[in-house]
Amino acid sequence: MNQKNIAKLLAGLAGLGIALGAATAMATPEQDRQEFIKYYTSKYPNVKVDDYVYGALAFDPDSKAQYDAIMEFPPFEADIEKGRKMWETPLKSGKKYADCLPNGGKQIAGNYPMFDEAKGKVVTLQDAINDCRVANGEEAYKLNDMKTMGVLTAYMRTLSDGMLMNIKVEGPKAMAAYEDGKKTFFSRKGQLNFACASCHVQNAGVRLRSELISPAVGHAVHWPVFRGGDNLVTLQQRYDGCFKQVRAVPPAQGSVTMNNLEYFHSSLSNGLPMKASVFRK
Ligand code: HEC
Repeated sequence: MNQKNIAKLLAGLAGLGIALGAATAMATPEQDRQEFIKYYTSKYPNVKVDDYVYGALAFDPDSKAQYDAIMEFPPFEADIEKGRKMWETPLKSGKKYADCLPNGGKQIAGNYPMFDEAKGKVVTLQDAINDCRVANGEEAYKLNDMKTMGVLTAYMRTLSDGMLMNIKVEGPKAMAAYEDGKKTFFSRKGQLNFACASCHVQNAGVRLRSELISPAVGHAVHWPVFRGGDNLVTLQQRYDGCFKQVRAVPPAQGSVTMNNLEYFHSSLSNGLPMKASVFRK
């Protein structure tokens, strides 16, 4: 997307502001989620909320058909297989990942990010994997190392396919982290002065140059994605890319700001089924 196109979009937005009720502070996460859904469904009554898991494809039957054809024989199977081998290889302590994650690592991805009361902060699934590594004599993986953390989580998340997203926000500290993530989502930033919401709320379903913009509900269920079929991209990497699109300096991956954003943003997908991994353009 070039600057001219974004400027055009911005002009179209002038006066609109972030009028969404969800931006009011201190709504419960469930109220926020309902507000988002109400906003999208009143704008697009013919698109089913369940189909938001397909992102922008939900608004474009031709691209969705291409996606379905690609997903019959996913081009990224080899990477998932590599991840499976990593998952099954014992750590230095002799234990495996399945031994140190809740429920053997199955049907848990939809609980993350979660607020860890003991640590007093939001913990992502990647953080949980790294905690498991460190507790078992290994070094933590770099969050943005796709050959290690990326591939491992791509496999690990397949163990939660079909689980319904289930982000819990309980207690004042968790609520504060959620509010912080929400603030990031709605704050305009970058040289182009855009918020996540400017695109993924007000302009969801709108074509920007050649790209249809997806709704934020359903965003968090299908990570990582393989862009172009083989380029593994994690959720926070995608955030990073979107920050850069509006010429904002992205917060570091794994920082409190990014994790709180992921916490808020994931809770918008509560109740929708998880699927790892998927193809994206
Ligand atoms: C200038 C508009 C714009 C802004 C601002 C923006 N995005 Fe995006 N985003 C896009 C476009 C375009 C895509 C690719 C098409 C799509 O899937 O929506 C995208 C894709 C995504 C995706 C991947 C969707 C999928 O299913 O593959 C996520 C997640 C996302 N953005 C989150 C965010 C977050 C969080 C922010 C705020 C930090 C943000 N975006 C800000 C335009 C934007």
